[in-house]
Amino acid sequence: MSGIFFEVRNISKSFPGVKALDSVSMSINRGEVRALVGENGAGKTTLMKVLNGNYKADSGALFIDGCEVCITDPTVAAHMGISIIFQELNLVNGLSIAENIFAGRLSEGGRPIRWREIRKKAKEYLDRIGFNIDPKIEVGKLSVAGKQMVEIAKALSYNAQLILMDEPSASLTQNELEKLFAIIRDLKQKGIAVIYISHRLEEIFSICDSVTVMRDGEIIGTSSVQDVTKNRLVEMMVGREINQAFPQREHHIQEEVLRVENLMRKGGKAKISFNLHRGEVLGIAGLVGAGRTEAMRALYGVDYIAGGSVFVKGKKLQSSSPRAAKDAGIAFLTEDRKDEGLTIDFSIKSNIVMANLKKIVGRLFLSNAKENAIADEYIQAIKIKTPSRTQKVLNLSGGNQQKVVVAKWFNTDSDIIIMDEPTRGIDVGAKYEIYEIINDLVSHGKAVIMISSELPEVLGMSDRVLVMKSDAIVAELTGERINAVDIMNYAF
Ligand SMILES: Nc1ncnc2c1ncn2[C@@H]1O[C@H](COP(=O)(O)OP(=O)(O)OP(=O)(O)O)[C@@H](O)[C@H]1O
Ligand SMILES: [Mg+2]
Repeated sequence: MSGIFFEVRNISKSFPGVKALDSVSMSINRGEVRALVGENGAGKTTLMKVLNGNYKADSGALFIDGCEVCITDPTVAAHMGISIIFQELNLVNGLSIAENIFAGRLSEGGRPIRWREIRKKAKEYLDRIGFNIDPKIEVGKLSVAGKQMVEIAKALSYNAQLILMDEPSASLTQNELEKLFAIIRDLKQKGIAVIYISHRLEEIFSICDSVTVMRDGEIIGTSSVQDVTKNRLVEMMVGREINQAFPQREHHIQEEVLRVENLMRKGGKAKISFNLHRGEVLGIAGLVGAGRTEAMRALYGVDYIAGGSVFVKGKKLQSSSPRAAKDAGIAFLTEDRKDEGLTIDFSIKSNIVMANLKKIVGRLFLSNAKENAIADEYIQAIKIKTPSRTQKVLNLSGGNQQKVVVAKWFNTDSDIIIMDEPTRGIDVGAKYEIYEIINDLVSHGKAVIMISSELPEVLGMSDRVLVMKSDAIVAELTGERINAVDIMNYAF
């Protein structure tokens, strides 16, 4: 099976103040794995939403096997063989795996639901992708990777010919990622096409056949992966050459501001002790699942602790709660940004200033001018792509929403800032600006703890690195020892 399966011609789509897609044309063959890359706000998700009937294009046409089609909604798309796997997965947590796979198709023509048959069929689709699980289990009990598997099984149950994956790898462990890649290779074997969106360009070279680059709503080019380098891709994405991945770091490390002694989270496997200084970036490396996030949640008092103490500027925190941590001058930029970091229905401006109202208090009232100035400063500094500071966060692209959370936490007076995966979902161009802000914070005497699964980021930014494994700190590295080999040796 080969030849063009799906084609879009001259698709345009605008939102108020934004031309998200500007006469986009592309086609994809059966069995092709196509990467779609571009900066935050380039239009990738919007294009996927047009392909699967979530959005109606303002103009342009879609073709399947050479015939023009009208895809009015996602169910129509599914029946035409197009399925999408969003990063915010679309499953219903309270229902079983089988119910999710066959949602909307549980009974035919008013006949009673044939549960046994449905479960049997669900099991077949799950088996096909090597996911060995009981279809009676509730979806809410699954990990992100598990939910993705269910989405893929669901796509197969519709006999999908094209599966759209919007940043599927963002929260997977290395193992899960390899499983996903194996499934994608298998889909390809069966002649199923995949569009794969990711900001991690290395992935594209290991799983995709070809890559399409978007910028500002337009297609910049398509190439087979053999004919392109990572640097060239970046250049196409951002429209300029990026030669230096990390800004110069000249940190001036001063006195201790934080000390953690024998801290153990409830249900944890080990106690941790470490300290942090003004002017320092402390990287926390380790594999996904090593207990890094959990350790920081315990430190910040989000999760219960089984024991241990936290000292800020020599003073012991009397209770373990986010309130106490915040009052002592700790800020926490969480990994689950959508759930914990943003008020999605508010403007960019309100979200940025929210964490630090002190900064904008005028004599008698909140100063609107100050608010505007702060918001604009960050919109510019980290290139938040938006028509205006009053845009609702809801209407921003995924990566630009992330940038708003980052800005919100950068705009605090806290002396200690804990950042969990600060650049996740953020494009290569904007990462650099985030690193610059981190450097700027520490140069003003703040202290930063940075959890990151991206090794280059840990290497490029940290003054000192703690490596974690099974809830324990297994190594503390400085100077020359901050290198990939040492870190990986300890992490595994
Ligand atoms: N519902 C909406 N209302 C208004 N503007 C929108 C809406 N959805 C998307 N946009 C805008 O359209 C542009 C393209 O957004 P899109 O989500 O397609 O970007 P993306 O390439 O997926 O970026 P990211 O890498 O950050 O996920 C952005 O400028 C975004 O702000
Ligand atoms: Mg997107």
